[in-house]
Order: sequence, then C-alpha cells, then structure tokens
Amino acid sequence: MRIAKHVRKLEEYVPGEQPKGRGVVKLNTNENPYPPSPACAKALAGFDLDRLRRYPDPNYSELREALASLNGTTPERVFVGNGSDEVLSIAARCFVEDDETIASLDPSYSLYKTLAAIRDVRWTGPSGVGPKCSLFLWTNPNAPTGSFAEPAEIAAFAAKFRGVVIVDEAYADFARANCMSLATAEGNRNLIVMRTFSKSYSLAGLRVGYCVGPEDLVRAMYKVKDSYNVDAVAQAVALAAVKDQKWMKTNAAKVVRTRERFSKALEERGWDVPHSESNFVFARPPAPAGVRASGKAAHERTEAVFHALRKANIIVRYFKGPKTGDRIRITIGTDKQMDTLTRAIDELSIR
Ligand SMILES: Cc1ncc(COP(=O)(O)O)c(C=O)c1O
Repeated sequence: MRIAKHVRKLEEYVPGEQPKGRGVVKLNTNENPYPPSPACAKALAGFDLDRLRRYPDPNYSELREALASLNGTTPERVFVGNGSDEVLSIAARCFVEDDETIASLDPSYSLYKTLAAIRDVRWTGPSGVGPKCSLFLWTNPNAPTGSFAEPAEIAAFAAKFRGVVIVDEAYADFARANCMSLATAEGNRNLIVMRTFSKSYSLAGLRVGYCVGPEDLVRAMYKVKDSYNVDAVAQAVALAAVKDQKWMKTNAAKVVRTRERFSKALEERGWDVPHSESNFVFARPPAPAGVRASGKAAHERTEAVFHALRKANIIVRYFKGPKTGDRIRITIGTDKQMDTLTRAIDELSIR
C-alpha cells in the first residue's frame, strides 16, 4: 500500500463518454465522422501476422521517413508516440525539472493539468509564466474554444521563452495556417509542433501522434520513451494513411464546410458561436426570457441543455468551470448528424 503522495491526491483526467450501443449521435470527443483512407483497410488486410511474432521496429523508420518527407524535414527531427497524449507525457518527463512549471493556455486541453500533477510539478496559465516555467503547451487551434493564434505570435513568444514550446496542432488540418515551418526552420532551438492521427486522419482508435522539432530535443525524447511505444499494426496503418493525403484533406474540407453551415444554423437560433478553426464549436445557448446571459444561471441553463441533448441520444461535451461552464463543445459530424442536432434543439425549444 505504498502509493506516492502526489498520486494519492491526483485528480485523474476523465475522457469523454464512449457509448457502447449504436443509435446515438456522438459529438463529444472530436473524432472524424468519415472513415479512414481505404489504404488503411488494405494495409490491415495485407498485414503479415508473422510481424506480430517479432517486436516492432523501435524507431518506426519507414513511418518516420514518410512523416519527415511530408513535412519537408529530416527523420532526425521526427518523434512518434502512442497517440499525441504519449508525446505530451514524454515531453513532461524530458523538459521539466522537479521544481519547474508547465504552462498552457487557459482554458485549454484539460489533460495538461493532469500531466503536471502526474509529474508532480506546478501548472500555470499564461499569466503565471515566470522564470521557473520550462514547458509551454500552446494548443493551436485551441480546445475547447476553437480560437486561433497567428504563427507569428507563437514564434515571437518562443523566441523570448527560456524553455520548450510545444504547439499542439491536433486540429491544424481544419485551420487556415499552422506552425510546421517554424518547427523545421534551421535556427529553431525550442519550438516543437505536435500532430495526431486521431482527428483529420480518422484514426483515433489506432493511437498514433507525432512531433517535429530541433534534433537535440527529439533525441532526448527517444532516450525517455519505451522501446516499442508504437506497435507494428499502428506503424503499418499510419504509414498507409500518411501516403493518402488526398483522402485526409478531402474529409477535413468536408468537416470545415459543415462547421460553417452548422455555426450559421446555431446563430440563426440565437446561440453565440465564436469562429472556430477546428472540427468543433464552443457555443453558448441563448438565455431564455428572464435569465441573464452570463453568471450562475447561464451555467445552469447550459448544463441543463447538455443533459436534455443526452436524453435525446445526442452526446456533446460539457466542461464545468468559470471559464467554460456557460458553453457546450460540439464536435462537427456529418451534415446529417448536425441536422439531427439542429432539429433536437428546435424540438427542445432551446432558443
Ligand atoms: C488539444 C489536443 N491535444 C491532444 C489530443 C490527444 O490526441 P491523441 O488521440 O493523439 O492522443 C487531443 C484529443 O482530444 C486534443 O484535443
């Protein structure tokens, strides 16, 4: 019964609900509504089972080379993980001393705070960044807000920052720009760009994420990782997906079109929908007569909307808290799924 003190008091990260049955409209974890490339099915069908008898390539050389060439860089600058969550966890072990701090935007991906707690170091929002801060996680586009910072702003921040900046670009394929050229630039000393196969490539179940950064930082991450952190099936399927850029880009463009159409439909119903550069929107339902648009009543109202939709078999995401509790995060699905949601909103009279 020797559980470390910081683990005993750890508040674990709670992932979004993964319902077992069919018949629900699942818009809560920013998955892609379209299937992965047919090249992935082919890679799986043709996968030689003898490859499972042996350990996988610890350096996933082929996948790493494909990712390097996709991003116009060298394999030495590419690190791959069991989902980008693992890349984050390895970064927290590589770039942070015990008395240092991890920072991120606020609100942002809630796993970051848990990562700091697991590492037993302090977490802070941007206003608390000081000399002890050694890792800044800048989600762009941000989650759950969908807001976007220009690459020049991030570059200017990194130039002044003493530690490592990881630009978490989980949603970059749905955005108008990204920071990859900053990560591959010759003079870059401290900026890492991270991507995932879970969103635009429709492969959340495969668990592959990667990052690109300065060679010395990438080398440090290799030292810390488990020997075989990306399994043989994941390597083969991710490689097939990378080679079919057209499939990924076509689906991402469809999601973006649906996002714009759905945002307009919500706005027509009185919702507040800040522009999103991602595959979700962070929207505030209108306040009914007599209820203030902000404050406790608005939070209670939004939570009630979340539960009403859940009852109607539509799952979206609700994050309690002063900065997030008056909105719900809605993943962009197919046009048909979004129409079902819009109809439910009309039927529930959320306007
Ligand atoms: C901002 C952000 N980063 C990283 C991840 C994790 O991605 P992965 O599935 O690659 O672990 C998510 C997942 O929702 C996310 O929203």
